[in-house]
Amino acid sequence: MSTFTRRQAVAGGVALAGALLLPETTLAAPKPSFHFVHITDIHIQPELGATEGVEKAFAAIRSLPQKPAFGLIGGDLVMDAALVPRSRADVVYDLWQREASELPLPLHYTIGNHDLCGLQSGGKPAPESPDFGKALWKKRLGLERAYSSFDHQGWRFVCLDSTGITSDYSWEGRLDPDQIAWLDDLLRRTPKAMPLVFLTHFPIFTAVTMYTEGTTLATPPGLIVKNGKVFKEMIQTHNVKAVFQGHTHIVEEIDYLGVRYITGGAICGDWWKGKRLGVHPEGFSVVTVSGEELTWKYVPYGWKARV
Ligand SMILES: [Fe+2]
Repeated sequence: MSTFTRRQAVAGGVALAGALLLPETTLAAPKPSFHFVHITDIHIQPELGATEGVEKAFAAIRSLPQKPAFGLIGGDLVMDAALVPRSRADVVYDLWQREASELPLPLHYTIGNHDLCGLQSGGKPAPESPDFGKALWKKRLGLERAYSSFDHQGWRFVCLDSTGITSDYSWEGRLDPDQIAWLDDLLRRTPKAMPLVFLTHFPIFTAVTMYTEGTTLATPPGLIVKNGKVFKEMIQTHNVKAVFQGHTHIVEEIDYLGVRYITGGAICGDWWKGKRLGVHPEGFSVVTVSGEELTWKYVPYGWKARV
């Protein structure tokens, strides 16, 4: 398809009398073409050389042959803020903010369970803290809300918040009703043909339990979005290209009804102790968009665990 515009036709003196009578919208728009990175499950900490690992990963991203337009950050920035004393949460968030400043890209975030604050701070929950739950993460990243969307070259990106806090101060994968309502409104305002990409920490769909525990076992809500079926039904009339997922640290793609549920490994591999399940190396995903097509590859950055 030509990308010749009416202005170019006139300026070039080209005899396109028929074309000049057409409305502008009938002429082909330029195809989008860009790259982005999906970076998930970083788990930065002072131990096991993790900070140097993050620096090595980010150096690899900075030296990619084609510069990413932005990064989707899939959660679990830190190890850990949820199950540690408050002072430790500040140590690891300081590390994250220092290292993230070395990535010269716009960063779009979803929260992970380890980014929560004060679920078991010093052995007991601290719900009275102003930084409890998602508050510290939002404060550190300058965010008002845990879910968001943005557009890039005609594609719409949606950062979900799939990290739920349970009544006994643990976590589970879920999408709460206020976010479902927000997503419903967003989808109503999104043209059906507009390509969509989602970011989530807990997977919407994964077969991880089949790989690790047994093929007939259900995946517990500690590993997957328990109301993911609602999400699937909400998006099924839309042009969803991919859902980028984290949490399990494995590399996996499930294609269902043309939607690719891509679990993008982990910067930390097996929490800085080697490859996840012995087979998924420390890495990140490089994603290429060309026209209506999305392709991706997982890029190990060559980290050697120090254990
Ligand atoms: Fe993680």
